[in-house]
Amino acid sequence: MSDTPGRDPGLTEASLGPDPIAALRAWLEEARAGGVAFPEAAALATADARGRPAVRHVLVKGIDERGLAFYTNRDSGKGRHLAENPNAAIAPCIGGSSTGRSRGRDR
Ligand SMILES: Cc1cc2nc3c(=O)[nH]c(=O)nc-3n(C[C@H](O)[C@H](O)[C@H](O)COP(=O)(O)O)c2cc1C
Repeated sequence: MSDTPGRDPGLTEASLGPDPIAALRAWLEEARAGGVAFPEAAALATADARGRPAVRHVLVKGIDERGLAFYTNRDSGKGRHLAENPNAAIAPCIGGSSTGRSRGRDR
């Protein structure tokens, strides 16, 4: 995708830097400092063993090189999904706009 000359290109691959974890931490800090409500909210997509999907919001409570951590009840819909199918995707929605996507497996 090309940028229009003279316009703020916003987030670009070039401005992102090589470390997505560092970038996400920086966005969260910026959002917290700016008074954004629930900056750690993220949409979590899971699927059951047959691949039927579901998505809902969770609060990201930890970020490190292994991925993003959240808390939930293992008997919840997402807990049951992850027990039978560890594939999931998470999209942080800092300030209401989706800033990124990540796919992973339950650990
Ligand atoms: C802003 C926000 C944050 C939420 N954070 C969590 C969370 O961290 N963990 C959780 O289990 N549910 C959280 N919920 C509730 C879930 O979105 C969901 O409704 C609930 O966990 C049941 O989902 P499930 O049946 O698909 O597992 C949150 C809801 C909102 C609106």
